[in-house]
Amino acid sequence: MVLSIGDHPRVRLVRLPTPIQYMPKLSEELGIELYIKRDDYMELAMGGNKARKLEYLLGDALKKNCDTIITVGALCSNHVRLTAAACKLYNLHPILILTATGPKKVKGNLLLDVLFDAEIKIVDVPSSEIPKVLEEVAREQEAKGRKPYIIPGGGASKVGVLGYLNASVEILHQLNEMCVKVDYIVHSTGSGGTQTGLCLGMKNLNSGIKVLGISCGPSRDLVSNRIKRLAEDSVEYLKLPVKLDDKDIIVYDEYTCGGYGIVTKDVVEVMRRVAKMEAILLDPLYTGKAFMGLMDLVDKGVIEKGSKVLFIHTGGLPLIFQYEEDLWRYGIKVSDLEKLA
Ligand SMILES: Cc1ncc(COP(=O)(O)O)c(C=O)c1O
Repeated sequence: MVLSIGDHPRVRLVRLPTPIQYMPKLSEELGIELYIKRDDYMELAMGGNKARKLEYLLGDALKKNCDTIITVGALCSNHVRLTAAACKLYNLHPILILTATGPKKVKGNLLLDVLFDAEIKIVDVPSSEIPKVLEEVAREQEAKGRKPYIIPGGGASKVGVLGYLNASVEILHQLNEMCVKVDYIVHSTGSGGTQTGLCLGMKNLNSGIKVLGISCGPSRDLVSNRIKRLAEDSVEYLKLPVKLDDKDIIVYDEYTCGGYGIVTKDVVEVMRRVAKMEAILLDPLYTGKAFMGLMDLVDKGVIEKGSKVLFIHTGGLPLIFQYEEDLWRYGIKVSDLEKLA
């Protein structure tokens, strides 16, 4: 199994491969054979999908002799938390541009950003203005004699795509060792870099596996167009032999719970069910919604009973604490504990 993704600079942030685990109880309940790829199980700052992208993004930044990393995300962003942590390992100065989405309390990811001593700037501008803000901050840094490197939101760039392109090779190798051939990969999607890497990887490696992305908020069209653009850039940049067709880009936006950052009783129910049955922690904004999608797609027969499915746990665990009030509101109540309130 060979996929030549060239000689791209990379730093090591996490020990790979992450494990793939069989979920016996959920498999029985759902009537499928379910495996989980534990990308929540990484040593860097509570882990998650962004660490894989950052290995290549920071590699690129260091090769270009940059000393400052500027990136953007919501107050609750996993991507900015992992960027701040990764910068500390490589003596890079992290500047985080945060849009005021999410609980306005210093906890969860935001608390970790502060612990990592990142420089934080909170902005209140429409998303169309963000690239301009990033450029302005970069110019300010240059005027101070620093060499900045801009990472777009979510690490969604042709360099970031390398993270899950490489993960595709890892996954197929692991499944091969386990003698398991899966039919579907299901995961949370948003800025699209994870899905682009997986779709390109699975297709170029001729795996026959369908990749299903469950949107964390944006519409199907928005995410699909992001993936299409990223895939075109990546095919050219990486000189990949096989391109994506429209039919390869499968995105569901029925499980967003009304939009990015919105937590409902249904998603909290899914988190409880998975925690109770398999001791797996999901988060309320990404993996909880993605798992809700997986269960419904099985219910509807889109994922046929008896199928073999790999769910990618893309991390996001600090969000459990950033959104703890929603979790309490939607039924995580134990009467004796209420006395503590
Ligand atoms: C935990 C988690 N899962 C999934 C995603 C979506 O990944 P991508 O932005 O590559 O589409 C994100 C993005 O922020 C995330 O934080």
